Amino acid sequence: MSAIDESILTSSMHRAKTVPRAEAENRLLTPQTRDEDMEIEQSLRPKTLQEYIGQEKIKHQMQIYIQAAKLRGEPLDHVLLYGPPGLGKTTLAAIIANEMGAGLRMTTGPAIEHHGDLAAILSNLQPGDVLFIDEIHRLNSNVEEKLYTAMEDFALDIIIGKGPSAKTMRLSLAPFTLVGATTRAGMLTGPLRDRFGVINRLEMYTEEELSTIIKRSARIMKVEIDEAGAHEMARRSRGTPRIANRFLRRVRDYAQVMAGGVITEKVAQKALDMLEVDALGLDQVDRNILETIIYKFAGGPVGLETLAASTGEENVTIEDVYEPYLLQLGFINRTPRGRVATPNAYAHLGIALPQSPAASKQMSLLED
Ligand SMILES: Nc1ncnc2c1ncn2[C@@H]1O[C@H](COP(=O)(O)OP(=O)(O)OP(=O)(O)O)[C@@H](O)[C@H]1O
Ligand SMILES: [Mg+2]
Repeated sequence: MSAIDESILTSSMHRAKTVPRAEAENRLLTPQTRDEDMEIEQSLRPKTLQEYIGQEKIKHQMQIYIQAAKLRGEPLDHVLLYGPPGLGKTTLAAIIANEMGAGLRMTTGPAIEHHGDLAAILSNLQPGDVLFIDEIHRLNSNVEEKLYTAMEDFALDIIIGKGPSAKTMRLSLAPFTLVGATTRAGMLTGPLRDRFGVINRLEMYTEEELSTIIKRSARIMKVEIDEAGAHEMARRSRGTPRIANRFLRRVRDYAQVMAGGVITEKVAQKALDMLEVDALGLDQVDRNILETIIYKFAGGPVGLETLAASTGEENVTIEDVYEPYLLQLGFINRTPRGRVATPNAYAHLGIALPQSPAASKQMSLLED
């Protein structure tokens, strides 16, 4: 690969996800990108830190680091962004490049298959460029090792020739900033993680922040929405801007056809009820996971593998897609022995709490 075609890389980036897309894809609530999201996401993506809503701690830090790097005339330190899908990692990477006044190159871990691919990408960087590697935990280990010297010394050791006559040549690179993104920081190797000067975990967004995002998107899309309507949608968006924006498109359709085009609380409620998204943003799959823990495993603990097998979902899908929000809501706990449903989960589903462990065992037998 001699020149990096950003559009190709970007689209492959969206295709190659940690979570098998097949299952996640047809779910309205999936925080992963769906094809319909791509075009509109571009227009809704904030371009500056100022427009980027929420994540105040990260924004504050980045503002300082960016300003300091610019004052010194150096590239920004390498940045690692991690957190569940749809929270704004890619958006933030683009903002970092923009605020640095630097070029942006985008690729993904699995797209860099060989040393050669990496060498081509790195040697094409201009001084100060931001290289964004999405799903960086999926880099193959040979490539990852080459990346170490590139990150540390802005140099790449390449081997020329084969066998006894092979020579190593050191290629020097333009100083650059690597922005790595991953949904699973735990899967990064120690040496890679240590080479990032800035490590930031993105948090789920509050209802207030999501409602601000929804109102901003509505302005861009020229949709009329009132305060209560925005809040109703925010509450059901699972702390995730990508889902909030997706809902906005659906609810807009509903409002246009059924309610004169204005999104009010009632309209948002009706539209989202129709989509089987409940008042807290849970869908059928979430409810199935909770009910499985409660009925089949007497409230837990149940191991991830077993839970996956009993619900027909993949382990990674449960871990990356469903669990973060259920944890956030305090509906499940992760214990060393497995996942446990909390009393809040029982209450939300309208299921009576078992009196004693024995009673709950009985309940599960009855259900079966
Ligand atoms: N802080 C924010 N303020 C406003 N909009 C946001 C914010 N963060 C994300 N968004 C919106 O959510 C969409 C999804 O964000 P983004 O693609 O950056 O998520 P991501 O973390 O990279 O997800 P993935 O892990 O799937 O790659 C963007 O198109 C953007 O419109
Ligand atoms: Mg992304």
